[in-house]
Amino acid sequence: MADMQSTNAASPAIIRRQDYRPPDWLVPEIDLDFALDPARTQIRAVLSVARNGAHDRYLKLDGDGLVPLEVKVDGRPLESGEWTLDGGALIIPLTGDAHQIETLVELAPENNSKLMGLYASGGLLCTQCEAEGFRRITFFPDRPDVLSRYSVRMEADPARFPVLLANGDPIEQGSSADGRHWARWTDPFPKPCYLFALVAGDLACNADSFVTMSGREVKLGIWVKEADLPRTGHAMEALKNSMAWDERVYGREYDLDVFNIVAVADFNFGAMENKGLNIFNSRYILADPETATDIDYDGVEGVVAHEYFHNWSGNRVTCRDWFQLSLKEGFTVFRDQNFSADMGSHAVKRIEDVRVLRAAQFQEDAGPLAHPVRPESYIEISNFYTATIYNKGAELIRMMALMLGPERFRAGSDLYFKRHDGQAATCEDFVRAMEEGGGIDLGQFRRWYEQAGTPHVRATLRHDEATQTVELLLEQSMPPTPGQPDKQPMAIPLRTALFDRIGSAHKGEELLMLTQPQQSFTFGGFAEAPVLSINRGFSAPVIVATDRSQGDLAFLSAHDDDPFARYEAMQQLMVNVLVGRIAGQNVDEAAVVAAIRDTVVDPHLDPAFIAEAIRLPSEAYLGDQMAKVDPDAIHIARDALQRRIGQELEPLWRDIHARTKANSFSLSSAAKGARKLRNTALICLVASGVPDGAAVAFSQFDEADNMTERQAALATLANGASDEREAALDIFYNRYRNDALTLDKWFQTQAFALHPDTVDLVEELGRHPDFTLSNPNRVRSLYGAFGGNQWAFHHRSGKGYRLVANCIIALDKLNPQTAARLVPPLGRWCRFDDERAALMRGELQRILAEPGLSKDVTEQVGKSLE
Ligand code: PHE
Ligand code: ZN
Repeated sequence: MADMQSTNAASPAIIRRQDYRPPDWLVPEIDLDFALDPARTQIRAVLSVARNGAHDRYLKLDGDGLVPLEVKVDGRPLESGEWTLDGGALIIPLTGDAHQIETLVELAPENNSKLMGLYASGGLLCTQCEAEGFRRITFFPDRPDVLSRYSVRMEADPARFPVLLANGDPIEQGSSADGRHWARWTDPFPKPCYLFALVAGDLACNADSFVTMSGREVKLGIWVKEADLPRTGHAMEALKNSMAWDERVYGREYDLDVFNIVAVADFNFGAMENKGLNIFNSRYILADPETATDIDYDGVEGVVAHEYFHNWSGNRVTCRDWFQLSLKEGFTVFRDQNFSADMGSHAVKRIEDVRVLRAAQFQEDAGPLAHPVRPESYIEISNFYTATIYNKGAELIRMMALMLGPERFRAGSDLYFKRHDGQAATCEDFVRAMEEGGGIDLGQFRRWYEQAGTPHVRATLRHDEATQTVELLLEQSMPPTPGQPDKQPMAIPLRTALFDRIGSAHKGEELLMLTQPQQSFTFGGFAEAPVLSINRGFSAPVIVATDRSQGDLAFLSAHDDDPFARYEAMQQLMVNVLVGRIAGQNVDEAAVVAAIRDTVVDPHLDPAFIAEAIRLPSEAYLGDQMAKVDPDAIHIARDALQRRIGQELEPLWRDIHARTKANSFSLSSAAKGARKLRNTALICLVASGVPDGAAVAFSQFDEADNMTERQAALATLANGASDEREAALDIFYNRYRNDALTLDKWFQTQAFALHPDTVDLVEELGRHPDFTLSNPNRVRSLYGAFGGNQWAFHHRSGKGYRLVANCIIALDKLNPQTAARLVPPLGRWCRFDDERAALMRGELQRILAEPGLSKDVTEQVGKSLE
């Protein structure tokens, strides 16, 4: 019995979607007064509360770690017996239908290591409230369907905190008698408390402006430490481009007179869309050629756009409850992906997005943490900011946009925004707006929101010479996922084309809707068997298996006019060779080498596309293609193929590497493409084993006038053993030791290196004086990167597992959210051999036995062990 009690006490409550009930009390207005100080901040809150419907339930205000110093109802101080605390929440019985509630609490932001609520970062005070951080600031119904108008007064020491920012517009400011200063901001748009924000600190501003489509001038500000001002230009450009794009593509105009962004060094995620005051992880704001790679530049552009787009998809229309998270996140990722595609290359952007989807989301779908895009239950909502909610959610919107076409999709989104402006909506509301605005039946399509797991599609082509027809047989299936043993067939839109071998063209693409478990489609006019190009543009987030020969794939890799399908054919060609080799078959590698050569020398291709197409699939992706992952065999096979490609085409790599050297840095697409191809050529050249490989890499490292080439050279060197490797790592460290974001790259590059000693090196780096658990970026750059390094992390000794588990245990005491995000690689044990699986489970059990473990880590580890 004692045992049972302790398990019960330790197992945290499960929140279920079905249990949703509208709020008992609404809060139309809130007035907040912050007396700011890192050691002792006092917060006075005045809430106007209104009974919602006829009921006699008490008022319950969520609180997390708060002690009420004063509680007043309609101005009358309550005695301590007139309120109670229930699991942190403040309970007040109320008799009337409308009251004014006043509370006073005190916090120490400088001791807030969870980075949720009000915390200190690099001398600033800032807030993070999504998902449930506001309850760490004041007592409030902390749920997204309670929308309030905010008035915020902040008071602070003007020397340490000269700048005071909050949501909405600044309306008043002044000095108090005691030498402190204050400012008041009000936000005219009712919002849920997760969108509340304030920032106080010594900040400099990159100020600019934007004139909206209706001619209003908006003041834009990007606030950073003075020394970082020169690194904010790219973010500002991205912001203005985003504002123009949302007007042009969705008809969405910005709605306040000011829009501010603040960069902070310590942040759990990428950035946060607080109304009129976005707060960013500095890595998604700061960029200059010396310290940022092209990928970093694109990250800044994409995340600035993402947060800006939330102003409509998230803020003007918010979520009813957290089960609807993908309503704002999936849609907003879809919007930022299309924006970035419009700013650069559609083809390359799609390839990059699919690579991310497969690496993060397909793995999630195939493991113990699989969940639907609209989950049915959770223990800790912070654990549901996942690739499924974000990236698969975006794929769902993309499929709807494809099935509807651009005009009808726009009609659907217009209806959605018009109908739900100012509301807290559901995924179902979005789908219904698409159905009604776009004129389509999405009945079966809704299963994409309900069923977890990645659909498998098998495509078989049968040619009939007599009738000159082909029959395409499509079969779908979906593996079971936790809690969902049996699946219903999905509605899968597949862009498909059939290529004539002669003439290398097709007769037009068709959108096939696969809705049944098995379905066949017949096409006429084929004297000879055509070549199948399917799931073009990756029109559906599914795994397709075909019976195409290596010859057919080589054909498509040279002729497919859909860039994604062309890329995919090339990747499949390589996967077949590698998976065959790993299984001990003697698959012909020559076709791969020839396809790579033909692609590289094709004058019509964009260099950035070439670089994507010829890159070998990652070790992790190869693992996903195997029944059981064999990390060592995968590494050996991939390494050998890379060497052969390097050797057989060595003159080509030397030529490209020399030819793509720029005289000076530019951010044009042409320059970015050249750098991407140059870095790929370097990998191939060094892999060939030529004696001067390390020297060539070192000179690229040494001569580069930009981080894209410098880091790529460092990463290439880091995979091998050479004096140049040690020299470059040293130089890099000494050059950037005082620049946190760039020093992160030093940790990350080593943790990600395909080097036999990586696991020992990571252990050492965890003791490095510059390593700290208190900065999430630093933790991710070491242990996050390491968890994604299949070969090193799965070192058969189990050392890698132990290192990550140790980190999770130590970090959980400071920052449970970030600790929980390190769990998934350990949870994939059933994909590995028995010895590794046992070691991984052992580490998960060790974590779970830790006393005082957070809800966050308990949920992720518990589910991983089931
Ligand atoms: N809502 C943020 C976004 O734009 C992500 C986030 C979630 C940030 C939770 C902080 C905390 O995707
Ligand atoms: Zn978002």
